[in-house]
Amino acid sequence: MDKRPIAVFDSGLGGLSVVRHLRESLPNEDIVYFGDTARVPYGTKTRTTVVKFALEDAHYLLRFEPKLIVVACNTASALAIDEVRRESPVPVVGVVEPGALAAAERAGGGTIAILGTEATINSQAYPKAIAAAGCDAPVFQIACPLFVPLVEEGRDPNGPIVRMTVDEYLAPLRQRDVHVVVLGCTHYPLLREPIAAALGTRVKIVDSGCEAARTVHSQLERNGGLCRESRIGTMHSYVSDNPARFRAVGSRFLEHPIEHVELVDPEHYIR
Ligand code: DGL
Repeated sequence: MDKRPIAVFDSGLGGLSVVRHLRESLPNEDIVYFGDTARVPYGTKTRTTVVKFALEDAHYLLRFEPKLIVVACNTASALAIDEVRRESPVPVVGVVEPGALAAAERAGGGTIAILGTEATINSQAYPKAIAAAGCDAPVFQIACPLFVPLVEEGRDPNGPIVRMTVDEYLAPLRQRDVHVVVLGCTHYPLLREPIAAALGTRVKIVDSGCEAARTVHSQLERNGGLCRESRIGTMHSYVSDNPARFRAVGSRFLEHPIEHVELVDPEHYIR
C-alpha cells in the first residue's frame, strides 16, 4: 500500500486525456499534473529541446514525492523517455510503449497505422517499439499536426472542417489494408469518431493513453504500490501559463471539471 501520488506531465493540457483513464481505473489514487502550457507545443520541436523540457517537467514533479511518473505526452515519451528514466528515482511509464504493445497484439500481422505529431513520427519511436515487441507487421506513419489546434478550438468532431482534415490526412491509408490505428497523440482520442468513420468499422483503434493507464495499474499492483484506501483521490494541476484556459479547455479532455490549478513560476521548473 502506497499513498504517494501519481505524477503526470504533458506539454500542455492534452495529457488530461490520459488522466481521464487513470482516474477511471485508479479512482482512489491522488494525481499531481504538470502541464507545460508556456512551452507547448512539443510536437514541432527538436529532440534536444524536448529532452530538456521533459527533464524539467519530471524534476518539477519530484517535489511532490510521487510513487511513479507518467509521461502522458506522446512526443516527450517518443523523444525523452530514456533520459527521464535515467534521472528519475521512481518508475516512469510513457504512452508509446503501452500503445505499441497493444497495437502489436491486436494487429495479427496486419498493417498498423500510427498517427502522431511531426516529432513523434520522425523519431520512429512507435515502429521501433512495435518491432521490439516482436511484431513484424508493416507500420505506416502519418503526422497530423492540424488535429491539435482543431481539438483545442473545440471544433465539432462531426463538422465539415474536422471531417475534411481527417479525410485528407488519412487518405494514404485507404489503399492499404490497415488493421490497427494508433492514436499516438494526447489530442487524437477526441477525434476518435471521425477517425473511425474515415477508416471503416473493421479497423481497431488503440488509444495510447488508455493503454498507459492499464500499464500503470498493473505495474502498481505488481509492486504493491496501489493505494488501497476506499476514498476518492485528489487531483492537483500545475501549469506554466494560462490556468484559466487550462481549466476551460482541459475539462473537455478530462471529461470532468478541473478544480485545483496553480500557475508555476519559471524559476521552479527551469533548470
Ligand atoms: N501532447 C502532445 C503529444 O501527445 C501534443 C501537443 C504538442 O505538440 O505538444 O504529442
